[in-house]
Amino acid sequence: KLTIGVLLSGSGSNLEAILDACENDDLPVRVAVVVASRPDAYGITRAQQHGIPTLVMNKERYVNPLEADALIVNTLQHHHVEYVVMAGYMRKLTHVLLNAFPQRVLNIHPALLPAFPGAHAIREAFDAGVKVTGVTIHFANEVYDEGPIIAQHALDVRQDETLEILEARIHSVEHVLYPQVLRLLATHDMVITGKKVCVYPKSDAAGSGV
Ligand code: GAR
Repeated sequence: KLTIGVLLSGSGSNLEAILDACENDDLPVRVAVVVASRPDAYGITRAQQHGIPTLVMNKERYVNPLEADALIVNTLQHHHVEYVVMAGYMRKLTHVLLNAFPQRVLNIHPALLPAFPGAHAIREAFDAGVKVTGVTIHFANEVYDEGPIIAQHALDVRQDETLEILEARIHSVEHVLYPQVLRLLATHDMVITGKKVCVYPKSDAAGSGV
C-alpha cells in the first residue's frame, strides 16, 4: 500500500472520501497521519474517528514557516509517508517540505487550473460567468496552486444554478477524482517532464515479465 500523509485546513471532506475509498473500495493507500494547519479544522475530528494520528499546527507554530514545515516533515517521516496529499490545505509550502518530498506532494483545486488559483476559486469562477469549470489535481511546487497537472475533470456551469449548487457539484467531483488519482499513483509510474505528467504502467523492477 502507498503510505500517505494528508494536509488539511478545513472540513476534511476530501480526507473522508479518501478514507472511505480505502475502507470500502480497496484503494491501495494507507493514510498514516493527518496534519491540520489550524486547531478548529473539522478534518481533525474525522481523522480521530478513523484512529489516524494527527499533528495540529497553530499560529505560534507558524511564526516561522520554515520551522513549521520542518516539524511537519519530521512528523511525516516518522510515519514513513511516501506521498504528501494536500486536501484543502490553505498554507503555502516552503522548500523545506518540498525538498523533503521532491515531486511527491499532491494538491486538489476546485477549478480548472491555471484558471482561478487561490482560496476562493469556485466563487471567482462563478462570478466570472465561465460556462465550464471543474477540478484539478496536480503536483505542488512553491507557487500556490501551480505545478504539473495530473488530472482534471470539467463541469458545465448550468445557467440556472446557484453558487451553492455549483459548490456541491464540484465537491462531489473532488470526492471521486482524488481516490481515482491516488489509485493511479499507487499502481502506475508518473513521469514529470517540465509541466507535463505522463502516466505509465509500473515498470517491472524485477525485470521478469518482459
Ligand atoms: C476543496 O474544495 C479543495 O479543492 C479546496 O479546499 C476545499 C477543501 O474541502 N482547496 C483549495 O481551494 C486550494 N486552493 P475539504 O476540507 O472538505 O476537503
